[in-house]
Amino acid sequence: MIDLRPVRGTRDFYPPQLRLRQWLFDIWRRTSAQFGFEEYDACILESEALYVRKAGDEITEQLYSFQDKGNRRLALRPEMTPTLARLILQREKALGFPLKWFSIPQCFRYERMTRGRKREHYQWNLDIVGQPGNVAEVEVISALIMSLEAMGLDASRVRLHVNDRRLLGEVLDHIGIPAERHLPVMVVMDKRDKVAPESLAAMLAEQGLTGPQLEKLNAFLAMEGLDEVQHALGDESAGARALDDLLSLMGRVGFGDTLVFDITVVRGLSYYTGTVFELRDRSASLRAICGGGRYDSLLSTYGGPEIPAIGFGFGDVVILELLGDLDLLPDLRSEIDYVVFPFSDEQVPAALEISQQLRRKGYRADADFGSRKLKRALQRAGDMGARHAILLMPDEMARGEIVVRDLERREEQRVGLEEFLKQTK
Ligand code: HAM
Repeated sequence: MIDLRPVRGTRDFYPPQLRLRQWLFDIWRRTSAQFGFEEYDACILESEALYVRKAGDEITEQLYSFQDKGNRRLALRPEMTPTLARLILQREKALGFPLKWFSIPQCFRYERMTRGRKREHYQWNLDIVGQPGNVAEVEVISALIMSLEAMGLDASRVRLHVNDRRLLGEVLDHIGIPAERHLPVMVVMDKRDKVAPESLAAMLAEQGLTGPQLEKLNAFLAMEGLDEVQHALGDESAGARALDDLLSLMGRVGFGDTLVFDITVVRGLSYYTGTVFELRDRSASLRAICGGGRYDSLLSTYGGPEIPAIGFGFGDVVILELLGDLDLLPDLRSEIDYVVFPFSDEQVPAALEISQQLRRKGYRADADFGSRKLKRALQRAGDMGARHAILLMPDEMARGEIVVRDLERREEQRVGLEEFLKQTK
């Protein structure tokens, strides 16, 4: 017999799981609309070349890639940002910037599986393209926080850890690491939470860091306040200034509590150029819930002009785990207004007709042809999430009557069929 389980690291969505996924997607869609973002999409298959990066990003190593029958090198997208860049570059002249676009793509990564990390996930992507400076930061981060509020999460449960690649660049400059090594060093630094300190030290040594440089780097990474970092750097720091401004603007729009400066946030993707952030649960028991940042040079690395851009990716896996842990998952049931039960074969045509008439009137209606006993019919109606059951019983039907049962109030009424159909508008 063939193995019926889903491919390792992928999920099946039975109706209860799909209801939950839809609930999450609805929050994402509603929040995007609230902030004036428009939805886009593209094919899950992309050219492998779109993901080739020099800095040694982990995402490139995790690619599901293959050669098709026409000898093209293709990949299942591991993230949406390169696709977004491709869409924009194709129509760059025709598009009116700044663009505020969102998408909820399924992404694939051949990842070592841990809690909250699978080989397939859906990811809400919200990006602003063509808007430099912190106003775009404030918009995308505010949308992120509003979506969390809709899920019942606030600053007591989650926090957005914010940093700036420019500040990290200044730190690396300060400890004497040449500019061309900054990106690969940052990609390694991002592994800090995933590998043992000795392995990390060895990987940094491979990137040319000396013992004293490593010590200085660790001293910076242990700093907690932005002032402390600024002070240690000595010179006026552009990165610190940008962060300071962002934190104060976020306070101005009322989201100051959720943000915290965190010098250890680096992000594993090499295309980030400025603000970087990660959403973490306060108990820090799970991997990052959401990650994003500013990537002002990505479009130019594909041969286009420099167009400033910022956004984030917010996956469905970690957040559902967290909401489950916190007992914040909604109790979702399927919903139907009427379910019609014919109790014998003679009533089947009437059941088909009544349910169809109800649908024409705009109700959600179903007919159940398998439950011929009252107890089972009421049980089924409850399972189907029905508000009302319409019971077609031989004696009543002979008199042109039906029994309408209100399943919430547990009351029932005998009414003439004609009259019932006239009454229900
Ligand atoms: P990322 O940090 O690689 O960024 O992924 C963003 C989010 O996607 C993560 O925080 C997590 O919620 C989810 N995620 C990633 N990998 C997995 C996985 N294997 N299993 C479950 N969930 C996962 C990006 O992808 C950037 N392209 C985001 C972005 C958009 N930056 C700017 N715009």
